[in-house]
Amino acid sequence: MKILVTGGAGFIGSHVCARLLEEGHDVLCVDTLITGSERNIAAFHTDSHFTFLKHDVTQPFEFEAEAIFHMASPASPVGYMENPIETILVNSQGTYQMLEQARKQKAMFLYTSTSEAYGDPLEHPQREDYWGHVNPVGPRACYDESKRLGETLTMEYYRQFQLNTRIVRIFNTYGPNSQMEDGRMIPNFITQALKNEPLTIYGDGSKTRSICYVSDLVEGLMRAMFKPHTAGEIFNLGNTEEHTVLEFAQTIIKLCNASSSIVFESSRIDDPERRRPDITKARTMLGWEPHVSKEEGLLQTIEWFRTQIPNLSTVL
Ligand SMILES: NC(=O)c1ccc[n+]([C@@H]2O[C@H](COP(=O)([O-])OP(=O)(O)OC[C@H]3O[C@@H](n4cnc5c(N)ncnc54)[C@H](O)[C@@H]3O)[C@@H](O)[C@H]2O)c1
Repeated sequence: MKILVTGGAGFIGSHVCARLLEEGHDVLCVDTLITGSERNIAAFHTDSHFTFLKHDVTQPFEFEAEAIFHMASPASPVGYMENPIETILVNSQGTYQMLEQARKQKAMFLYTSTSEAYGDPLEHPQREDYWGHVNPVGPRACYDESKRLGETLTMEYYRQFQLNTRIVRIFNTYGPNSQMEDGRMIPNFITQALKNEPLTIYGDGSKTRSICYVSDLVEGLMRAMFKPHTAGEIFNLGNTEEHTVLEFAQTIIKLCNASSSIVFESSRIDDPERRRPDITKARTMLGWEPHVSKEEGLLQTIEWFRTQIPNLSTVL
């Protein structure tokens, strides 16, 4: 198939491109590189089935596609708080542009939304039919609310035009190709531990998180897009194993063989207390659940980070 991946030079997008190329598809990756990196797609340039276009998807452009993975959007707190207007526009105007193209070309469409659509949830674990608890004017609203609008647009194209669309709400995902200093828990902890610096916990460490290894997530995205009877559906994809932030810090220190201490700083505004997906729907409809263990995924991620931190051997 001819497949467009917006945000394909980002962390998850680059793994989606790799998977689609492995399966023999023609992949067009469109990315501004605002939070992504050439490095993530460097290996694909020798593949004649891969094309990269540096372009902002809020602006029209010509392409042919039978399926569109619309993943473009800053995703980390640092990424979206530094680029709030760009984030709002890519999830609203950018989603509209991509949906219009999907409609004209009768292409399948997948929108990557986020667990942040649930805000600081009052229900645990979060099911797809929970409407969320979101601050519409806080510093995270540029991301949370624009993702919610992107979902609304996606559902209207399904209802109004019977477009073959689906929404995936991604929960914390980690792995190689993520940005090192993007304010997310796992990259922060690994970078600090590999440098033997103190690990920074925001809050007292009792907040909980569940993390999904990127290969598991990509498998879920493929099933959500290509399995029959997924049009018009919303799926949570993430890991259900919940741990405290303190436990993650301790595990990473151990797996990195680091001598780092842990320091506690005040909680960040609107940072949710708990996050855990209910993935019953993905299990039932997609036959999907994560398989990579926390230790296995973290070790692979740590090895990749090790290769990315310059002069690490002189630090250790
Ligand atoms: N990583 C996670 O844990 C997570 C969790 C929930 C949702 N998501 C969603 O998954 C998608 C990918 O996230 P990620 O972690 O890979 O983030 P990322 O920042 O690494 O990748 C996003 C990519 O989109 C590109 N981009 C941003 N605005 C663009 C625009 N206007 N035009 C073209 N390209 C643009 C960026 O340059 C970047 O390469 C995002 O939509 C994000 O909201 C990710």
